[in-house]
Amino acid sequence: MKILVTGGLGYIGSHAIVQLLISNHEITIIDNLSNSQKETHKKIKDITGKNSDFYKIDTTNYAKLDNLCEKHNFDAVIHFAGYKAVGESINEPLKYYFNNLLSTINIAKLAIKYDINTIIFSSSATVYGNGESPFTEKSPLLERTNPYGETKAMCERILIDTQKAYPNLSLFLLRYFNPIGAHKSGLLGEIPNGIPNNLVPYITQVAKGKREKLQIYGNDYNTPDGTGIRDYIHVVDLAKGHVSALESNRTGINIYNLGTGKGTSVLELVNAFEKVNNIKIPFEIVSRRPGDIAVSYADVSKAKRELGWEAKLTLEDMVEDAWNFEKNLKKEENKND
Ligand code: WQD
Repeated sequence: MKILVTGGLGYIGSHAIVQLLISNHEITIIDNLSNSQKETHKKIKDITGKNSDFYKIDTTNYAKLDNLCEKHNFDAVIHFAGYKAVGESINEPLKYYFNNLLSTINIAKLAIKYDINTIIFSSSATVYGNGESPFTEKSPLLERTNPYGETKAMCERILIDTQKAYPNLSLFLLRYFNPIGAHKSGLLGEIPNGIPNNLVPYITQVAKGKREKLQIYGNDYNTPDGTGIRDYIHVVDLAKGHVSALESNRTGINIYNLGTGKGTSVLELVNAFEKVNNIKIPFEIVSRRPGDIAVSYADVSKAKRELGWEAKLTLEDMVEDAWNFEKNLKKEENKND
């Protein structure tokens, strides 16, 4: 299939493109490079041996997107482009609402205009708010604690309403749990802007000596060891979920949790990292981070049943690959060194 991938040089987009190229899809990437590197395009080629097109286009720029869609005959669009830093979204809500909503509206408009059959949207478990795990796709969407999460819920709504008005459109809303890890080659992984917000990028920077110690946000949650529980999923498994969705030929509105179905606490993750990589991670317990919930993990049975997809890689694979990526990261590749 001919696929337009927005945000294709970012952390999840780049891994998805590798899997799509391996499955012989024809890929056009757009990315504004706000949180990604142009060199990633070449690395995708190095891994797969296959070409893809890249254009530096911002997904909020309707005219440029329109021009691109007019020239290509896309069968599907996978929409990864979006801002994703929870803390920043609280301080700069309009930046998040403007960018994430407008880019999604543009994609929806162009899918209609150019008869692009399928939209796959990067959603997030954050749409479930402070609800009860395991989350199923039928769990209520409770109030989000930050504008980033709110944009994900709003974009879902926008796309669902669009699909209802244009029933020929196949829509996939993929709700990611906590993607971590990196490509085995060490060429693709997550390079956070500034101080990492997320747990694993912070741990790998502590392991590298870039940060002194990890702060664990609270050990007084109602969980076995008191630290927060999340459903960490290897980014390569997550990437494969997109290929399964695309190739399923399903019509209508399709919503899937992409996780492993297993919960892991912060302390368990730190222990696994230390054991697998044989590196000590110094940490201190600090107070809870506002907006965090105690427990989040997925019921993943729907994706398995309907897409034949399930996560295969283990927590050990995730922490090993995350460290392999960070340790091979050259100084010039990390603006924040
Ligand atoms: C995981 C656990 C923290 C950092 C967020 C978004 C979500 C998705 C992924 C974005 C929690 C604890 C963390 C640290 C810690 N989207 N922690 N010390 O909050 O589950 O999900 O990122 O890209 O929508 O909400 O992920 O990795 O930040 O936190 O103790 O320095 O680690 O409290 O229990 P989260 P996370």
